[in-house]
Amino acid sequence: MKNFPARLIAKKRDGHSLSSLEIQDLVEGVVDGSLSDAQLGALLMAGFLVGNSNEETAHWTRAMRDSGFVHDLSKIPGIKVDKHSTGGVGDKVSLVLAPLVASLGVPVPMVSGRGLGHTGGTVDKLLSIPGFRMDLSPEEFRRLIENNGLAMSAATDAVAPADRRMYATRDVTATVESISWITSSILSKKLAEGIDALVLDVKCGRGAFMKDLEHAKRLAQSLVRTANLLGCVTSARITNMDRPLGRAIGNALEVEESILCLKGGGPTDLREIVLLLAADMLVAGQVVEEEGAKDLAASALEDGRALERFRLMVQAQGGDPEVVDQPRKVLGEAPVCRNLCAKTGGYLEDLDPFEMGWTALELGAGRRVASDPIDPLVGLVCHKAPGDRVERGEVLVEVHARQQGEAEEALQRLEPLFKIGEDLPMLSPLLLATVGPQD
Ligand code: URA
Repeated sequence: MKNFPARLIAKKRDGHSLSSLEIQDLVEGVVDGSLSDAQLGALLMAGFLVGNSNEETAHWTRAMRDSGFVHDLSKIPGIKVDKHSTGGVGDKVSLVLAPLVASLGVPVPMVSGRGLGHTGGTVDKLLSIPGFRMDLSPEEFRRLIENNGLAMSAATDAVAPADRRMYATRDVTATVESISWITSSILSKKLAEGIDALVLDVKCGRGAFMKDLEHAKRLAQSLVRTANLLGCVTSARITNMDRPLGRAIGNALEVEESILCLKGGGPTDLREIVLLLAADMLVAGQVVEEEGAKDLAASALEDGRALERFRLMVQAQGGDPEVVDQPRKVLGEAPVCRNLCAKTGGYLEDLDPFEMGWTALELGAGRRVASDPIDPLVGLVCHKAPGDRVERGEVLVEVHARQQGEAEEALQRLEPLFKIGEDLPMLSPLLLATVGPQD
């Protein structure tokens, strides 16, 4: 490092802003190890307590992005657009959205993560398709976007190495929950994809990272402002994660539900979020005006264009394209399937997504720590969602498990979660807020 680390840490501690060059120097120190763990921890805490200005957050994001490999897709025609979700339970939107938008002429370079904790990851979902590869080389990634209009790849260690060390240090220094550090962490990886525009789905509620609307709005505003400052046209939707999205939770089960949606069916909440975000991506990609965008997206689900693009992607990335026609047969089934049935009739009042996500994780669908293996076939399929009428004896949820004992434990956990009352509950809307560059 050119500067003395302690001088820059003191500057931040005392409430001053760091310059672009000073931040670049610190990020170099993060990557080459000349900034010690103690110094990095102190710096992250100073940033957490004092806060970073919009400009500083943009400097951090740029320097962290440039600490690793950055795709250059500038020679591929069209405006390259991606979507990022802050993560939720049953969130399989990317699996439908990316092929849908690509089928309408907007190139989609999508790099996704694995699931950790109660939320699932797009990588784990897609890897439940036999043969599907997400370890794409930069050349393969580029070629697939050029030829098919989309590639869905897993994040590699070559991308934003500064973020990896900073995130690991935040995790052990109580500095994860800083809007500025979250912003630079998310965007340093997303902006390395070589995109021109980004649509954000900031989830809000018990199943999300942001539990209330005020915090979700602050994160959305910070992400939108920072990405736009760095030249990436970005807007955000804040959507409801106070109930699971769709009916399936678990990797192969979510692929099956995504295929239903790609065929024009599937749960209405999933379809609604897909169409909302697809419209934003199509407008950002400048293939349609705002008024016609949702109808255009819906037409690609109805007439099979989105489904055929999904099939093409699966084939191009080594997966079995037969999954489109016979999902259960190709994906396989967990050995045990048990139902939880309603003991009384009424309306389903509530379904806590956090608890549903943890139940699926306990069955083997997710990881507590990054090194945990997952079972692609296990999980839950809800037959009822909040607001649905329930008759006594009807199936509330299917449990897909490896063993009877694990299914039994899940059934016990699930029973109190399905709260059935006499009155139709008031449900909060699916779309909670929209955040644009001027908000
Ligand atoms: N996701 C990230 O990639 N980084 C954060 O800091 C939080 C969520």
